[in-house]
Amino acid sequence: MSNNEIKLDYNNMMADKLGKEHGISFKEIENLKLAAEAAHEKITDSNPGFMELPDSQAEIVKEINEFVDNNLDKYDNFVVLGIGGSALGNIALQTALNNPYYNLNADYRGEHPRVFFPDNVDPDRFKSLLETLDLSRTLFNVISKSGSTAETMSQFLIARGQVAAELGEDAIKDHFLATTSKDSGFLIEIAEREGMPKFYIPDNVGGRFSVLTPVGLVSAAFAGIDIEKLLAGARAMKERTATADIWNNPAYMHGILQLLAYKKGKTISVMMPYNHGLKDFADWYRQLWAESLGKEVDREGNTVNVGPTPVKALGATDQHSQAQLYMEGPFDKLITFLEVENHKQDIEIPEEYQDLDGVNYLGGHSLEKLINTEKQATELALTKRNRMNNTIIFPELNEHTVGQFIYMLELETAFVGELMNINAYNQPGVELGKHYTYGILGRENYEDKAKEFADRPEP
Ligand code: PA5
Repeated sequence: MSNNEIKLDYNNMMADKLGKEHGISFKEIENLKLAAEAAHEKITDSNPGFMELPDSQAEIVKEINEFVDNNLDKYDNFVVLGIGGSALGNIALQTALNNPYYNLNADYRGEHPRVFFPDNVDPDRFKSLLETLDLSRTLFNVISKSGSTAETMSQFLIARGQVAAELGEDAIKDHFLATTSKDSGFLIEIAEREGMPKFYIPDNVGGRFSVLTPVGLVSAAFAGIDIEKLLAGARAMKERTATADIWNNPAYMHGILQLLAYKKGKTISVMMPYNHGLKDFADWYRQLWAESLGKEVDREGNTVNVGPTPVKALGATDQHSQAQLYMEGPFDKLITFLEVENHKQDIEIPEEYQDLDGVNYLGGHSLEKLINTEKQATELALTKRNRMNNTIIFPELNEHTVGQFIYMLELETAFVGELMNINAYNQPGVELGKHYTYGILGRENYEDKAKEFADRPEP
């Protein structure tokens, strides 16, 4: 095993540690072996789009890097206009792989532009961002697979209006690029009309599975992240998880443990990195898991209303917020810790106040020692209280380990979807709310929704 490989430690999920009621036995895992093999076969046969990305994007990566090289000197700011699967992966990559103060300190970013992910359509946040930027030195990447998402298109229309007013209509093509589906949606039409540069999202890759397409790769490359290494990491995990043998496939094993936990009433799946750099990957996971696995009907159309609830927590911060509940509250949680063995930097705690025993024990240790010790202490305390927990261990936080992690979690999601006999790739539940919004805002063909809204009972 190379020492750049992420590892899964699931000892604290097992019945020998937690007892029969709250732990999982080897037999329970073995019992899912046949189902796992069938799920493996279905996944391999259907070959969902995300599985091709580690190989299929290799060429695109060259195009992206060339585009970045040719344009780097033109921009001081790079802004992603997108939401959900068109934003969360970008944010997670930036937090994990660049210096936390990348935007604030030019030394940390060198020749690369500052990067912004407004994500939401909060007016205060978006207006303030536009007021902060020198638009003549800003490139906006409008990301929408469907090309019609209200939040993204509104952000685009506003930013476009300001660029046109300040720099002229001719400047649109120099300040916006479109990342969208090649042949469908309004964004591609707009991009063509305006002459904007374009990157494409493969049709068979859903939003929340798309971070390894131009959706995540363009902003990462602009921010100096090595996207070839990222894909190489994903490729390494693809090779490692090509086996149907659950004992040798970390994606399948983690999926099986999550499913067994869910069936034992641990319906809340907490992802808790003990590394600030991974906190936004917990957010990315929240979307991946919730939208993929929270479903009303199974593949045969039976009503099932299933889905674990993914929750994001952050160590050590949330030891002072959530840990009390995790330790003593209902037995309804499985905690997946993310641990980084070697941080990019470390810093020693000075030895001071030698006469004060509540303080002097800290001196001489480092912050890495402190945060990793706190993780191990929380892990032990949870285990002693029969609370399911497991750890995904990153030897280091770098492009290669992050690429592995992304692929592992995406495959795990697809695998659990198969085991649950649901479609992990659609999100019908979010459509109704969108349709009411369209109706209320006056979009053509949604008049019935506008009427339903107007006629709704008074609160
Ligand atoms: O995972 C998904 O499909 C969604 O979360 C989408 O990414 C999100 O709704 C944004 O969609 P689009 O890229 O079409 O604007």
